[in-house]
Amino acid sequence: MKLSKYEYHRVRDFIYRKAGIFFEDRKLYFVQKRVEKRLEELNLENTDQYIRELQFRDPNGKELQAFLNILTTNETYFFREFDQLASFAEHCLTEVCERKRKIGNAKLRLWSAGCSTGEEPYTLAIILKEMLENEKDWLVDILATDINTRVLNFAKKGVYEPRAIKDVPQEYLTSWFNSYKKDTYSVKQELKKMCDFRILNLMDKAGLSQISNIDFIFCRNVLIYFDNDSRKQVVSHFYDILNPGGFIYLGHSESMTRISSAFKIRRKGGYIVYQKPEN
Ligand SMILES: C[S@@+](CC[C@H](N)C(=O)[O-])C[C@H]1O[C@@H](n2cnc3c(N)ncnc32)[C@H](O)[C@@H]1O
Repeated sequence: MKLSKYEYHRVRDFIYRKAGIFFEDRKLYFVQKRVEKRLEELNLENTDQYIRELQFRDPNGKELQAFLNILTTNETYFFREFDQLASFAEHCLTEVCERKRKIGNAKLRLWSAGCSTGEEPYTLAIILKEMLENEKDWLVDILATDINTRVLNFAKKGVYEPRAIKDVPQEYLTSWFNSYKKDTYSVKQELKKMCDFRILNLMDKAGLSQISNIDFIFCRNVLIYFDNDSRKQVVSHFYDILNPGGFIYLGHSESMTRISSAFKIRRKGGYIVYQKPEN
């Protein structure tokens, strides 16, 4: 099966409209392989049938979900971009906590937007457990969302292979994971309790409007798959969702240049982080 350029554009424009993910022309083969897989699984004969199925015969979005589950890139691991996380723990977390303590607010809300298989939100949970001063006095809540239901199911189980935990410091591995059998690491219940995994498409305005009062947004290595228009849309929602003085962390190859000038650019421990002005 070969996708013609016309068919490819129909598929990729549809995905772009639904999920904000933009596939360039050079991604034709990548998308074609995934269309092939769905054709086989649905017993369909040609791409045209599949496109019709996807666009017009999918009232509940079941096929769109199945397609997105194989189309998204879900690469992640614990303590990804370690130095950025250290800078978060040492600088911004302390700053936000001090501000909140002064006004008697002991609630901290973090959001891992595009959490994939859960390594990022569980990493944040470990950092908070380990680094938050008087941790027991805080009510901490980590919202973890993704568009892909397959990775969310994996994340909820919280069971990982050695590749995922390779950057976890040994003492954290001992404190925060159980290893029931060889080469299997399962996050402890205490961390699981802190993370609330939910499906959310970052292009879904109604879904985004349900989220508020966030102190830190981690949206790392997600918007690289979007184009500038969809990035702008998402980031303007992030602005509304963040508490004044709250921070956004992006991946190391991502930036707000050409996306938004609404945030203050702060340099913390050698890393750039974006802050919503306090007033
Ligand atoms: C490469 S992973 C990043 C995981 C983690 N944030 C990290 O940096 O390690 C990108 C994730 O973004 C999710 N994603 C892509 N488009 C999305 C959308 N429109 N809404 C929500 N999540 C999306 C994918 O399903 C994928 O799990």
